[in-house]
Amino acid sequence: MLPNGAGPSEEIGNTMKKLTKTPVIAIAGATGLVGSEMLNVLEERKVPCSELRLLASKDSAGEVYKFQGQEVEVEVLGDESFEGVDVALFGTSAELSSMYVPIAAKAGAVCIDNSSFFRMNPDVPLVVPEVNFGSIKPDDKIIANPNCSTIQLVPVLKVIDDIAGLKHVVVSTYQSVSGAGKAALDELWGQTLAVFNQQQFEQEAFQHQIAFNCIPQIDVFLENGFTKEEFKIINESRKILGLPLLRITATAVRVPVFYSHAESVFIETERAFDLDVVVKKLSKAPGVSVRSGHDEYPMQFEATGTDDIHVGRIRRDESVEHGLSMWIVADNVRKGAALNAVQIAERLIGG
Ligand SMILES: NC(=O)c1ccc[n+]([C@@H]2O[C@H](COP(=O)([O-])OP(=O)(O)OC[C@H]3O[C@@H](n4cnc5c(N)ncnc54)[C@H](OP(=O)(O)O)[C@@H]3O)[C@@H](O)[C@H]2O)c1
Repeated sequence: MLPNGAGPSEEIGNTMKKLTKTPVIAIAGATGLVGSEMLNVLEERKVPCSELRLLASKDSAGEVYKFQGQEVEVEVLGDESFEGVDVALFGTSAELSSMYVPIAAKAGAVCIDNSSFFRMNPDVPLVVPEVNFGSIKPDDKIIANPNCSTIQLVPVLKVIDDIAGLKHVVVSTYQSVSGAGKAALDELWGQTLAVFNQQQFEQEAFQHQIAFNCIPQIDVFLENGFTKEEFKIINESRKILGLPLLRITATAVRVPVFYSHAESVFIETERAFDLDVVVKKLSKAPGVSVRSGHDEYPMQFEATGTDDIHVGRIRRDESVEHGLSMWIVADNVRKGAALNAVQIAERLIGG
């Protein structure tokens, strides 16, 4: 097993033993899609907190949010923002995280970062709590939250790996625009209205028109013709599952949907499996919800706002000796980012 690979999820690192039960929590990027959802999730789940600090750019300074009955004013993110903070949740760009996560860690905070910056750093655990919470070591100050498309994939892959061993995985994603941040939501909305009204429109967040269109490019291209997003799914899945040689490939597509990502997943296993056992074990997996009927399946509009990873269209695929195909849907801002980060924080605080 790799140092940061899958460990039993019950095998809890003891970082949390050093954390107070009522920590000071900071959210950097608090006004963004992920940051504001982390605030919602902390509130909904009644995460104990003695003080909350909301940090964003100077454009948002002074905005007021309600949290646990108190009004909290947004402050400008700066070098001094993390003094006295126990847990720092980051919903900032890779560039900002690269600058401020080390500052927060040095100030003593345990940092949970949603950006891609630290994910493949061998010294940083990349964590989906249901799969590899045990990969967090006692002295870890930086924990990376995986890419949204990876988070909804690996808990399912872990179940199949335990049943029959993963031999080959092929993923095609149908990713919503919210995965690209709040400006991208405005772009889909604005373009949709403009197309209806036969007006000119802006095109900034994506490489092409996104209204009424699917774009088979997310993030920049690598030299091998894959996109960076596709290699995030490949490399992060290998790291989280502790399977560095896993044969896995991905095609990532942006679709004109506001929230939630869907994935069509083909899995070839090493060993024979009983389809009923696959459905039963997936149904029992924490955070996974299964639709087992042939004619019922999860969809993006109804997964939005929910916590679970929804799986449907589970079927034996006879194109190979031991094959399985399925459809996986989850709210990318929630389980794909904010909820996953807060679940890590909760277990660190609660342990
Ligand atoms: N959206 C998703 O589904 C998703 C999923 C997984 C991971 N992620 C990752 O999570 C991170 C945040 O994504 P997002 O979608 O929430 O982006 P977003 O909606 O664009 O929010 C960005 C946040 O960063 C703040 N910010 C921007 N410039 C700043 C500056 N100079 N100083 C301080 N704060 C600044 C913004 O504050 P202002 O409002 O003041 O500008 C805002 O709070 C990214 O690294 C992204 O890749 C996103």
